[in-house]
Amino acid sequence: MQNYPHTMRLQRFLARAGVASRRGSETLITAGRVSVNGIIVTELGTKVDAERDAVCVDSIAVALADKPAYIMLHKPSGVLTTMHDPQGRVCVASLLPVDEFPGLFPVGRLDADTTGLLLAMTDGQLAQKLLHPSGHVWKCYEALVDGHVMEHELEPLRQGIMLDDGPCLPAQVELVGYKASSCTQVRIHIREGRKNQVKRMFSAIHHPVLTLHRPSFGPLELGSLAQGAWRLLSDSELVDLHNALKGQS
Ligand code: URA
Repeated sequence: MQNYPHTMRLQRFLARAGVASRRGSETLITAGRVSVNGIIVTELGTKVDAERDAVCVDSIAVALADKPAYIMLHKPSGVLTTMHDPQGRVCVASLLPVDEFPGLFPVGRLDADTTGLLLAMTDGQLAQKLLHPSGHVWKCYEALVDGHVMEHELEPLRQGIMLDDGPCLPAQVELVGYKASSCTQVRIHIREGRKNQVKRMFSAIHHPVLTLHRPSFGPLELGSLAQGAWRLLSDSELVDLHNALKGQS
Protein backbone atom coordinates (compact mmCIF):
# COMPACT_ATOMS: atom_id res chain seq x y z
CA MET A 1 0.00 0.00 0.00
CA GLN A 2 1.32 3.44 -0.85
CA ASN A 3 2.04 5.58 2.20
CA TYR A 4 0.07 8.75 1.55
CA PRO A 5 1.63 11.64 3.55
CA HIS A 6 -1.46 12.19 5.72
CA THR A 7 -2.13 8.54 6.51
CA MET A 8 -1.41 7.01 9.89
CA ARG A 9 -2.59 4.13 12.02
CA LEU A 10 -5.91 4.72 13.70
CA GLN A 11 -4.53 4.33 17.24
CA ARG A 12 -1.84 6.89 16.47
CA PHE A 13 -4.42 9.27 15.06
CA LEU A 14 -6.52 8.96 18.24
CA ALA A 15 -3.48 9.44 20.46
CA ARG A 16 -2.39 12.51 18.51
CA ALA A 17 -5.89 13.92 18.69
CA GLY A 18 -5.64 13.63 22.48
CA VAL A 19 -8.47 11.11 22.83
CA ALA A 20 -6.40 8.65 24.87
CA SER A 21 -2.89 7.23 25.10
CA ARG A 22 -1.82 4.91 22.29
CA ARG A 23 -2.64 1.88 24.45
CA GLY A 24 -5.96 3.44 25.53
CA SER A 25 -6.80 4.17 21.90
CA GLU A 26 -6.17 0.53 21.02
CA THR A 27 -8.63 -0.49 23.72
CA LEU A 28 -11.24 1.93 22.32
CA ILE A 29 -10.77 0.44 18.86
CA THR A 30 -10.98 -3.20 19.91
CA ALA A 31 -14.04 -2.36 22.03
CA GLY A 32 -15.82 -1.26 18.84
CA ARG A 33 -16.20 2.35 19.92
CA VAL A 34 -14.41 3.88 16.95
CA SER A 35 -15.81 4.42 13.46
CA VAL A 36 -14.15 5.57 10.27
CA ASN A 37 -16.44 7.10 7.67
CA GLY A 38 -19.44 5.68 9.53
CA ILE A 39 -18.12 2.12 9.76
CA ILE A 40 -17.04 0.65 13.10
CA VAL A 41 -13.39 -0.39 12.89
CA THR A 42 -11.90 -2.92 15.30
CA GLU A 43 -8.72 -3.72 13.32
CA LEU A 44 -5.71 -2.11 15.03
CA GLY A 45 -3.59 -1.73 11.92
CA THR A 46 -6.26 0.28 10.07
CA LYS A 47 -4.84 3.35 8.36
CA VAL A 48 -6.72 6.61 8.21
CA ASP A 49 -6.17 9.72 6.17
CA ALA A 50 -6.02 12.51 8.74
CA GLU A 51 -7.25 15.05 6.21
CA ARG A 52 -10.08 13.14 4.57
CA ASP A 53 -11.46 10.39 6.79
CA ALA A 54 -14.21 11.08 9.33
CA VAL A 55 -13.20 9.43 12.61
CA CYS A 56 -15.66 9.22 15.51
CA VAL A 57 -15.41 7.83 19.02
CA ASP A 58 -18.79 6.93 20.50
CA SER A 59 -20.25 8.81 17.50
CA ILE A 60 -18.41 12.02 18.43
CA ALA A 61 -16.17 13.42 15.67
CA VAL A 62 -12.44 13.54 16.42
CA ALA A 63 -9.97 15.76 14.56
CA LEU A 64 -6.29 16.52 14.82
CA ALA A 65 -5.30 19.91 16.12
CA ASP A 66 -3.83 22.01 13.33
CA LYS A 67 -0.80 22.89 15.43
CA PRO A 68 2.36 22.43 13.36
CA ALA A 69 5.10 20.13 14.60
CA TYR A 70 8.71 21.29 15.11
CA ILE A 71 11.38 18.67 15.57
CA MET A 72 15.14 18.52 15.90
CA LEU A 73 16.94 15.41 14.68
CA HIS A 74 20.52 14.42 15.40
CA LYS A 75 21.38 13.29 11.91
CA PRO A 76 23.98 10.53 11.77
CA SER A 77 26.50 10.16 8.99
CA GLY A 78 25.41 8.09 5.98
CA VAL A 79 21.82 9.35 6.00
CA LEU A 80 20.46 11.50 3.17
CA THR A 81 18.55 14.70 3.94
CA THR A 82 15.52 13.74 1.92
CA MET A 83 12.16 12.14 2.65
CA HIS A 84 12.46 9.63 -0.18
CA ASP A 85 15.32 8.27 -2.21
CA PRO A 86 14.44 6.57 -5.50
CA GLN A 87 17.61 4.49 -5.14
CA GLY A 88 16.50 3.22 -1.74
CA ARG A 89 19.36 4.73 0.25
CA VAL A 90 18.74 5.52 3.93
CA CYS A 91 17.10 8.91 4.33
CA VAL A 92 15.99 11.04 7.27
CA ALA A 93 12.37 9.93 6.78
CA SER A 94 13.36 6.62 8.39
CA LEU A 95 14.44 8.49 11.56
CA LEU A 96 11.61 11.02 11.79
CA PRO A 97 8.12 10.40 13.27
CA VAL A 98 6.40 10.71 9.90
CA ASP A 99 3.35 8.64 10.91
CA GLU A 100 2.75 10.79 13.93
CA PHE A 101 3.33 14.07 12.12
CA PRO A 102 2.30 13.69 8.49
CA GLY A 103 3.74 16.34 6.21
CA LEU A 104 7.07 16.64 8.09
CA PHE A 105 9.95 17.80 5.94
CA PRO A 106 13.57 18.76 6.66
CA VAL A 107 14.48 22.45 6.77
CA GLY A 108 17.57 22.85 4.62
CA ARG A 109 20.01 20.02 4.25
CA LEU A 110 23.10 18.47 5.69
CA ASP A 111 25.34 16.43 3.40
CA ALA A 112 25.11 12.66 3.79
CA ASP A 113 28.45 12.58 5.62
CA THR A 114 27.63 15.56 7.87
CA THR A 115 26.27 14.86 11.35
CA GLY A 116 24.31 17.13 13.63
CA LEU A 117 21.24 19.23 14.14
CA LEU A 118 18.66 19.03 11.40
CA LEU A 119 15.34 20.77 11.86
CA ALA A 120 12.17 19.20 10.51
CA MET A 121 8.70 20.71 10.66
CA THR A 122 5.25 20.84 9.13
CA ASP A 123 5.23 24.66 9.05
CA GLY A 124 6.07 25.69 5.49
CA GLN A 125 5.96 29.39 6.26
CA LEU A 126 8.54 29.27 9.04
CA ALA A 127 10.74 26.92 7.01
CA GLN A 128 10.71 29.34 4.11
CA LYS A 129 11.74 32.21 6.36
CA LEU A 130 14.55 30.15 7.89
CA LEU A 131 15.86 29.15 4.50
CA HIS A 132 15.62 32.57 2.93
CA PRO A 133 19.03 34.30 2.90
CA SER A 134 17.49 37.34 4.62
CA GLY A 135 16.66 35.03 7.56
CA HIS A 136 20.38 35.03 8.38
CA VAL A 137 20.14 32.54 11.22
CA TRP A 138 23.63 31.62 12.39
CA LYS A 139 24.55 27.99 11.91
CA CYS A 140 27.53 26.57 13.81
CA TYR A 141 29.74 23.82 12.38
CA GLU A 142 32.62 21.95 13.96
CA ALA A 143 35.01 20.78 11.28
CA LEU A 144 38.11 18.69 11.23
CA VAL A 145 40.15 19.98 8.32
CA ASP A 146 43.23 18.70 6.60
CA GLY A 147 46.57 20.30 7.43
CA HIS A 148 47.93 22.62 10.07
CA VAL A 149 45.83 25.79 9.77
CA MET A 150 47.50 29.05 10.73
CA GLU A 151 45.37 31.80 12.28
CA HIS A 152 46.01 34.21 9.39
CA GLU A 153 44.71 31.65 6.85
CA LEU A 154 41.23 32.03 8.34
CA GLU A 155 41.12 35.75 7.55
CA PRO A 156 39.58 35.38 4.05
CA LEU A 157 36.69 33.42 5.62
CA ARG A 158 36.17 36.23 8.12
CA GLN A 159 36.21 38.83 5.34
CA GLY A 160 33.79 36.92 3.11
CA ILE A 161 35.54 34.52 0.77
CA MET A 162 34.69 34.35 -2.94
CA LEU A 163 33.31 30.99 -4.11
CA ASP A 164 32.33 29.99 -7.64
CA ASP A 165 28.71 30.98 -6.94
CA GLY A 166 29.60 34.37 -5.45
CA PRO A 167 31.03 35.90 -2.30
CA CYS A 168 30.14 34.47 1.10
CA LEU A 169 28.97 36.66 3.94
CA PRO A 170 31.67 37.15 6.58
CA ALA A 171 31.94 34.09 8.81
CA GLN A 172 33.00 33.78 12.43
CA VAL A 173 35.82 31.23 12.63
CA GLU A 174 37.87 29.92 15.54
CA LEU A 175 40.88 27.65 15.62
CA VAL A 176 40.05 25.03 18.23
CA GLY A 177 43.21 22.93 18.19
CA TYR A 178 45.61 20.73 16.30
CA LYS A 179 45.50 16.96 15.95
CA ALA A 180 48.68 14.89 15.83
CA SER A 181 47.91 13.55 12.36
CA SER A 182 48.28 17.00 10.79
CA CYS A 183 44.68 18.08 10.93
CA THR A 184 43.05 21.04 12.61
CA GLN A 185 39.83 21.33 14.55
CA VAL A 186 37.93 24.52 13.71
CA ARG A 187 34.56 26.02 14.57
CA ILE A 188 32.76 28.17 12.03
CA HIS A 189 29.50 30.13 12.17
CA ILE A 190 27.82 31.04 8.89
CA ARG A 191 24.51 32.68 8.10
CA GLU A 192 23.87 31.28 4.63
CA GLY A 193 23.11 27.71 3.65
CA ARG A 194 24.58 27.25 0.19
CA LYS A 195 25.28 23.76 -1.11
CA ASN A 196 28.43 22.27 0.47
CA GLN A 197 29.23 25.76 1.67
CA VAL A 198 31.50 24.98 4.61
CA LYS A 199 33.39 22.34 2.64
CA ARG A 200 33.84 24.74 -0.26
CA MET A 201 34.98 27.56 2.06
CA PHE A 202 37.74 25.43 3.58
CA SER A 203 38.74 23.98 0.22
CA ALA A 204 39.14 27.57 -0.97
CA ILE A 205 41.82 28.11 1.72
CA HIS A 206 43.42 24.74 0.84
CA HIS A 207 42.33 22.89 3.98
CA PRO A 208 39.65 20.44 2.85
CA VAL A 209 37.09 19.31 5.40
CA LEU A 210 37.55 15.76 6.69
CA THR A 211 34.54 15.61 9.02
CA LEU A 212 31.71 18.05 9.65
CA HIS A 213 29.24 18.31 12.53
CA ARG A 214 26.53 20.92 13.23
CA PRO A 215 25.95 21.26 16.99
CA SER A 216 23.57 24.20 16.72
CA PHE A 217 21.19 26.00 14.42
CA GLY A 218 20.46 29.58 15.48
CA PRO A 219 19.52 29.41 19.16
CA LEU A 220 18.83 25.65 19.05
CA GLU A 221 21.41 23.24 20.42
CA LEU A 222 21.65 19.48 20.08
CA GLY A 223 22.86 19.09 23.64
CA SER A 224 22.82 15.44 24.65
CA LEU A 225 20.38 14.26 21.98
CA ALA A 226 21.78 10.92 20.78
CA GLN A 227 22.72 10.35 17.13
CA GLY A 228 19.67 9.17 15.21
CA ALA A 229 17.26 10.46 17.89
CA TRP A 230 14.72 13.27 17.55
CA ARG A 231 12.75 15.44 19.94
CA LEU A 232 10.06 18.09 19.71
CA LEU A 233 11.17 21.69 20.17
CA SER A 234 9.93 23.27 23.37
CA ASP A 235 7.69 26.34 23.23
CA SER A 236 10.55 28.53 24.41
CA GLU A 237 12.89 27.15 21.73
CA LEU A 238 10.27 28.05 19.14
CA VAL A 239 10.05 31.60 20.49
CA ASP A 240 13.86 31.80 20.39
CA LEU A 241 13.84 30.63 16.77
CA HIS A 242 11.34 33.33 15.78
CA ASN A 243 13.42 35.91 17.63
CA ALA A 244 16.56 34.75 15.85
CA LEU A 245 14.81 35.42 12.56
CA LYS A 246 14.12 38.94 13.68
CA GLY A 247 17.82 39.30 14.42
CA GLN A 248 17.28 39.38 18.18
CA SER A 249 19.63 36.52 19.04
N1 URA B 1 28.25 22.92 4.62
C1 URA B 1 28.66 21.81 4.00
O1 URA B 1 29.62 21.84 3.25
N2 URA B 1 28.02 20.65 4.23
C2 URA B 1 26.97 20.55 5.07
O2 URA B 1 26.41 19.46 5.25
C3 URA B 1 26.54 21.72 5.70
C4 URA B 1 27.19 22.89 5.46
